[in-house]
Formats: sequence, structure tokens, C-alpha cells
Amino acid sequence: MLPIFSVGLPLLVAILAGEGVKATACNATNPCPYSAPCCSEYGFCGSDHFCLGGCNPFYSHALDSCRPAPVCKDAKYSFKDDSRILTNNTFYEGNATEYDWVVEGGNVFVADAAAGDLALTLTEKNGGTKLATTRYVHYGTITARMKTGRWKGVVAAFITMSDAKDEIDWEWPGTATTEGQSNYFWQGFFPSPSNGGTHGGLSDTYSNFHDYTIDWQPDTLTWLIDGKVVRTVKKSDTVKNGMTLYPTTPARVQFSIWPAGIESSGEGTISWAGGMIDWNDPDLKAAGQFAVILREVTIKCADQASLVKAAAIPAANITSYVYASNGTGGVPDIIYTNRSSLLNGASRNALLGIEAGRWQLAVVGLTALAVAGSQAFFGL
Ligand SMILES: *[C@@H]1O[C@H](CO)[C@@H](O)[C@H](O)[C@H]1NC(C)=O
Ligand SMILES: *[C@@H]1O[C@H](CO)[C@@H](O)[C@H](O)[C@H]1NC(C)=O
Ligand SMILES: *[C@@H]1O[C@H](CO)[C@@H](O)[C@H](O)[C@H]1NC(C)=O
Ligand SMILES: *[C@@H]1O[C@H](CO)[C@@H](O)[C@H](O)[C@H]1NC(C)=O
Ligand SMILES: *[C@@H]1O[C@H](CO)[C@@H](O)[C@H](O)[C@H]1NC(C)=O
Ligand SMILES: *[C@@H]1O[C@H](CO)[C@@H](O)[C@H](O)[C@H]1NC(C)=O
Repeated sequence: MLPIFSVGLPLLVAILAGEGVKATACNATNPCPYSAPCCSEYGFCGSDHFCLGGCNPFYSHALDSCRPAPVCKDAKYSFKDDSRILTNNTFYEGNATEYDWVVEGGNVFVADAAAGDLALTLTEKNGGTKLATTRYVHYGTITARMKTGRWKGVVAAFITMSDAKDEIDWEWPGTATTEGQSNYFWQGFFPSPSNGGTHGGLSDTYSNFHDYTIDWQPDTLTWLIDGKVVRTVKKSDTVKNGMTLYPTTPARVQFSIWPAGIESSGEGTISWAGGMIDWNDPDLKAAGQFAVILREVTIKCADQASLVKAAAIPAANITSYVYASNGTGGVPDIIYTNRSSLLNGASRNALLGIEAGRWQLAVVGLTALAVAGSQAFFGL
């Protein structure tokens, strides 16, 4: 059984908190102050890169504190060199034309230049690695050709993660090397306790490349392995009491290898990941790190033109996604704009002076319900 919380990188949280100039925590009840307006993906207030990828608009000072999110672009990425990867996201300035990827903690290296293989590493010291796209996807088909780990306590993940914590997952925990696990979250919550799926019958996922796909469309969410559908979720089936518990907000594609089998993890997480990490593992001793290998990532954006609201600018002029309001029924209102995603780009838009506070009521209510395990709310 999967743990009942969103998948993260616990060590990274600690590391990134220390790195922040102002390590004020932010959450639904405590949005960021004007002086450090942006709530990072890890829940800390700051400015500069805190306002870029992962910046949570609802926990930030105002709904438009975070920079606009760079629009989706069809692409096929391989890793013959690392020139398109910014290895320290502290220096990222929001130019998605300059970099395709940022490393948020940890280390990557080109493991096989001819094949275009990138290694994402985990060592006792680096606490795991996360690689994220600079661009966002607002519905689309993402396929990753990759090899997983095979070690107790080590988790490999390929996910989409939105700034509002809508999340779609492929995960490979621990020593299970003949299966992949699918999952999704709505704004950080499990829509139902039995939300995860396990899809087996694969040839060794550590030794062999497989193609894992997340096909995220406005009405259906489909997971595929090697081009075969293994699971489908219909948006219409996720509606509970008028709330649509389905990922609807623009997300970055992320890959990670992270240590689940460590002292600071919960018991559920440790057992899900197959136990505590063996830091004397022969693979680790031989290579100097645990690693997952990423060979190719293909992103096919959903037809942006069909998603653009009537009043918006022409599809060809769209450069970014922006949260316009919390919307209704659990579906934030996303607009497509020609605003700059750059840190030093045009300043905040006067049309979007909506304080995060109003939205918090809904989130706080839901947190309370989730904590209380309200089966009535989720209709379980
Ligand atoms: C929200 O942040 C405040 C201020 O940092 C903190 O005191 C509070 O415990 C946090 N709440 C939750 C639910 O994490
Ligand atoms: C990234 O750069 C910042 C600023 O120089 C530095 O403090 C931090 O340690 C660097 N992070 C890594 C992982 O090298
Ligand atoms: C963004 O990066 C591209 C490619 O490096 C560069 O040509 C462009 O000038 C940059 N834009 C800004 C505003 O710096
Ligand atoms: C769309 O972009 C083109 C080319 O940059 C520009 O000439 C045109 O004015 C833009 N249209 C709008 C409505 O912004
Ligand atoms: C935010 O969403 C909730 C629930 O959907 C709704 O009750 C509330 O009125 C919304 N607030 C704003 C400012 O749109
Ligand atoms: C963005 O679109 C608006 C409205 O169509 C237009 O007035 C403005 O010139 C555009 N800005 C850029 C940078 O294209």
C-alpha cells in the first residue's frame, strides 16, 4: 500500500530551507509576506528563484506573486551533453529558452554520451536528485525511456507536479523491478485511499529500458508502459460532492531518485520502499552512487489552441500560464497569456491583485476534512 501523502524529497526540503535567504515557512494558513512574496515548492518564502518553477500561487503573498509559467512546447529530449541543464537552480532566471531542465538538489551526469543517457544520483551525502523541466505542460502526453533502481529504500520517480500540487506519478519503489506504480493527487490530496495502481509483468526495470507514459488530457488520464495502456482514470469519475478531484493545473515534468528508507521517513514510507537503505550495497560501493538512467523524454503538448479561453490572445502568441482565480469546484482558473516568465520581466499584472487569502478557506477546509478522514466528503 502506498503512503497517504504526496511524494516528496524529505532531505531536499531541509537543504532548500537552509539555502533560502528567509526561511519563513508558508502554507495555506500562512501565505508569504510582501518582503519575501513567493512560496517555493518546498514551502518557504523568498524572492528570485522562489518565484519560478514550483512557486505556489495560493501560498504566496498574492495570486500573481509567482512568475508566469512558461508554456508547453513539443520536444524530444536526450542527453548527449548537459548543455541544456542548469545544474544549480539557484541561478535560474526564468528563461525557458536558455535551459530545458533545472536540477533541484543532487547531481546528474551524462553516463553515456553516444546513447544520450543521463544519470540521476543518490548518495548518502547528496540526499537524492530531482530534475525538472523549465516549461510546464497543461495537458499533454509525456513519455520517458528510462531504467529504474533495484535497491531497498530507494525510490525512482517520473511525475508531473503542478504549483498547486496536482500530481501524476510513475514510481518504482525499492527492489520491485518487474512493475511500475501509478498514482495521482489533486492539490496534494489523495482522491481516494486506494488511489495507487501496480502494473507488473515487466522485464527487469533496472536492466532494461522501458517507455513509461503519462497521457494527461482534459477528460482522461492514462498510464502506458511500452505503448500499452495499463490504467485509465476518467475526470468525470473523480467528481465527489461537486468537487472535481482531478489534476487540472499546469505542471512541470520531474524525475527523481530519493531516499525513502531513512530514519526520518515514516514507517509506511519505509516499508513501501522495501526497507532501510543499505549504504554498503555492492552497487553503491562499485559505482559510487545509486542512479537511475534517463535516455529520452518526449513531450507532446495538448492542442493549446483548443484550450485557450475565448477572450484570450491568439494561440501563437501564448508564452505562459497564469492562475487567474481559484475557480470553482476545485478547479483553479488558468489563463493563457503573453506575459514574460523571466524574473526581470514585466512586473505584476494589475488585473490579478487577488489575495491568496480568499482561496485559503477552501484549502483549510479540505485539510481539516482530509485529516479527519471524512469519508462523507470524498463519498467513500
Ligand atoms: C503554517 O505555517 C505557520 C508559520 O510558519 C506554522 O506555524 C504552521 O504550523 C504551519 N501550518 C501547517 C499546517 O503546517
Ligand atoms: C547553488 O548555488 C548556491 C549559491 O552560490 C550555493 O549556495 C549552493 O550551495 C549551490 N548548490 C549546489 C547544489 O551546488
Ligand atoms: C533567453 O535565452 C535565449 C537562449 O539562450 C537567449 O537568446 C535570449 O536572449 C534570452 N532572453 C532573455 C530575455 O535574456
Ligand atoms: C502576436 O504576435 C505577433 C508577432 O510577435 C504580433 O505582431 C502581434 O501583434 C501579436 N498579437 C497580439 C494580439 O498580441
Ligand atoms: C474559491 O473556491 C471556493 C470553493 O470552490 C469558493 O467557495 C470560493 O468562493 C472561491 N473564492 C474565490 C475568491 O473565487
Ligand atoms: C500581449 O497581448 C496584448 C493583448 O493582445 C497586447 O496588447 C500586447 O502588446 C502583447 N504583448 C506582447 C509582449 O506581445
